[in-house]
Amino acid sequence: EWTMANFIDEQVAIIREQVGSRNVLCALSGGVDSSVAAALVHRAIGDQLTCMFIDHGLLRKEEATGVMESLGRGFQMNIVKIDAAKRFLDQLEGVSDPEQKRKIIGNEFIYVFEEEAGKLENVDFLVQGTLYTDVIESGTDTAQTIKSHHNVGGLPEDMKFDLIEPLNTLFKDEVRKLGTELGVPDEIVWRQPFPGPGLGIRVLGEITEQKLEIVRESDYILREEIKNAGLDREIWQYFTALPDMRSVGVMGDSRTYDYTVGIRAVTSIDGMTSDWARIPYDVLEKISTRIVNEVQHVNRVVYDVTSKPPSTIEWE
Ligand code: XMP
Repeated sequence: EWTMANFIDEQVAIIREQVGSRNVLCALSGGVDSSVAAALVHRAIGDQLTCMFIDHGLLRKEEATGVMESLGRGFQMNIVKIDAAKRFLDQLEGVSDPEQKRKIIGNEFIYVFEEEAGKLENVDFLVQGTLYTDVIESGTDTAQTIKSHHNVGGLPEDMKFDLIEPLNTLFKDEVRKLGTELGVPDEIVWRQPFPGPGLGIRVLGEITEQKLEIVRESDYILREEIKNAGLDREIWQYFTALPDMRSVGVMGDSRTYDYTVGIRAVTSIDGMTSDWARIPYDVLEKISTRIVNEVQHVNRVVYDVTSKPPSTIEWE
């Protein structure tokens, strides 16, 4: 019989058997997948697990501190935090193609990771929070690869680690149940999914500090208002994206020519398909007013009313 408790027991046994007395590394992204994968491996082998959290400079506002607090302090995992923002932004300078951006971020992640992992001794295994949906959407044997899904922690073929991917038969909702069963705090279990390339694929086109700032601040406002409205568990994923365009507006007596912020909010079970969330107009109005008033260089806010398919959830 398949139950979550049985699944945990089974995975714990498999991981212990596989790992023995050796050491394991986990690249934490801050998302629910890698956190739950880490928690499961932590359950199996405790202090033989070291986590690494690479801040690539493409995280949401206050995300890095949140992860360190809830997982490091709250869950008592050993976490090494690496601040690599400058490296990533340097590599991304002048690049606007979405797939190329994903590749650069994925590759740079590997370089940073290899460098840092090389400093740790006796590590033979690497944990990844790969889900079943990641396996099918980016599988090389699928006729149609939709997007190259680089999860933070993606590996080159020749890397010396053996992989531990304990979630690769699970869907997102199952991973949440697993997390709860493992005692992972709600704030992580119910954290909305966040792509490995982070804000790098929410700033459409070329990435600059200024654009990242706009996405970060507008996204923070969106998250606050969705939470205030009590919609944060109902809506599967919600974020802002910044199209690479400007439009004309008027503020006071003067003409403005500034950025448009796009709001994306979807309901979904597993990210494979989605519908746009029916956020009440008054909540949308508040979000829009706050973004235009509080975020510099934004004079327009639009709401994405497309489902997946034909759209994807992210805009890149
Ligand atoms: P799309 O945009 O393909 O997204 O409809 C489906 C789900 O996957 C997330 N996503 C990614 N996750 N690396 C990731 O780890 C990626 O490159 C990536 N692209 C999209 C997206 O946020 C949504 O939850």
